[in-house]
Amino acid sequence: MTGKLITLEGVDGAGKSTHIPLIADLLRAKNVEVILTREPGGTALGEKLRELLLHETMSADTETLLMFAARREHIEQVIQPALTRGAWVLSDRFTDASFAYQHGGRGVAAEKLRSLETWVQGALQPDLTVLFDLPVEISCQRLAGARDPDRFEQENTAFFQRIRDAYLERAAKFPQRFRVIDANRSVSKIQDELKQIISML
Ligand code: TYD
Repeated sequence: MTGKLITLEGVDGAGKSTHIPLIADLLRAKNVEVILTREPGGTALGEKLRELLLHETMSADTETLLMFAARREHIEQVIQPALTRGAWVLSDRFTDASFAYQHGGRGVAAEKLRSLETWVQGALQPDLTVLFDLPVEISCQRLAGARDPDRFEQENTAFFQRIRDAYLERAAKFPQRFRVIDANRSVSKIQDELKQIISML
């Protein structure tokens, strides 16, 4: 009995947070135990690392290492035990975010991330990754209205363009687990598509 790992991705401002409650409800309707979690974070230590990652100045390598340190803890304490007992895990971001932000955004070599990925995850990969995709002009406009932006949200349009490109590259590389959602539509249209995607699981 093994559960499924479902991850949600997208640039800041793509609207992921709006859709998480619906996705969680759709999964619960399948009569499975659903664990809702997030990265960086998901454990007591991970949430402390999240605070540092979102607010303290640090090098791109340090940022990458802390992301994967938080992930290791998350997998060991939360994700793996849940999957083993047959629960389904819905994670707001996972390793694709490291490839998008730390590699695409910050320029850390993909090779370094691949080593960390193997170390931290072994063979664990998401069963499904939903990517909320949006042109950066629109996501940046949405962020401009946000109060109290964190270290990532303060970055410029070029940074978010690289992240969007890196996400789309990941989606093209792993088409069997990625579903790319056009997030530049009404909430109800997006929700119809999410219902269809989740019904196929
Ligand atoms: P986010 O998931 O957008 O949360 P909120 O909606 O509460 O702002 O914030 C997490 C930030 O961390 C986001 O800017 C992306 C960044 N991040 C990385 O850079 N690398 C990673 O591996 C992960 C998981 C997140």
